[in-house]
Amino acid sequence: MRRELSLEIVRVTELAALASARWMGKGMKNEADGAATSAMRKMFDSVPIHGTVVIGEGEMDEAPMLYIGEKVGNGQGCEVDVAVDPVEGTELVANGLNHALAVIAIADKGQLLHAPDMYMEKLACGPMLKGRLSLDDPLHETIRKAAYHLNKEIGDITVSILDRERHAEHIRILRELGVRIKLLSAGDVAGAIATAFQESGVDLYVGSGGAPEGVLAAAALYCLEGELQGRLMPLDEEDHKRCQAMGIVDPHKILYMKDMVGDDDVIFAATGITPGDFVSGVRFLPNQRAETESIVMRAATKTIRYIKSSHYMPSKIEMM
Ligand code: FBP
Repeated sequence: MRRELSLEIVRVTELAALASARWMGKGMKNEADGAATSAMRKMFDSVPIHGTVVIGEGEMDEAPMLYIGEKVGNGQGCEVDVAVDPVEGTELVANGLNHALAVIAIADKGQLLHAPDMYMEKLACGPMLKGRLSLDDPLHETIRKAAYHLNKEIGDITVSILDRERHAEHIRILRELGVRIKLLSAGDVAGAIATAFQESGVDLYVGSGGAPEGVLAAAALYCLEGELQGRLMPLDEEDHKRCQAMGIVDPHKILYMKDMVGDDDVIFAATGITPGDFVSGVRFLPNQRAETESIVMRAATKTIRYIKSSHYMPSKIEMM
């Protein structure tokens, strides 16, 4: 993939974040999502790729834009797989809460796992724990290994997990061990990525969340030299059929980084919609200007760029 694509892609996440942030706290998650999706879709028309959406807003019959299989880009560049989440954390935007992102990952054609829309059990960590943990281990063993390899007391390990009823047993075990816990109300892409940023103070992400979000987080962690292991959680016969239709033969096996994002180049971009651990949220300023903060990274070179942009809103609104 051409390196200029990094900057092209970040322009797309910026516009999506600007569009969505205008809905912050208004209690309307569909509008926040719709505005970002439409902005992202339009902006893709100027990106020099032959892209196919492999992770998007849903199947063709359920999503008007950025549906799985949709072609995006101006058709003039290389063939790539495109994974998008115009608003990762729709509830977060609707309620004005932290950690909502606009996110895109692109990779050479055929590299990204076409993750079906179901839950995935996840274990994510930063570079120091990469290759040292296994999703097959019981949680207490994972914590013990993490403490050993990070040279920390168990009581100083911090784990983030979605605050859900289905995680009651995980949370019970973590509390019994005396681990510090960061309960997330939503947004496990940001939660998983945060493990690769020491300043976030989070060592591990555990628990289940969306499988498509798992692939997006894996793409980011690949660029950051961290790791995400996942295991699909098909709940019924229908889910098993969807796994098969997407070429996933054994849905219960651990999916490693190479299974989700391949082992070639990947570009990942995220712009903060609301403030987060590694990027701030959109700030609307006087004189119709707005500021965004983004991160854009490339696996091939391991470059991590932070981009702070100042936008003139009337010209952005024209593009949305
Ligand atoms: P949306 O942006 O689609 O609302 O997803 C938010 C999210 O929290 C994801 O980050 C996470 O993977 C998933 O929802 C968890 O699903 P659930 O809310 O059903 O636990």
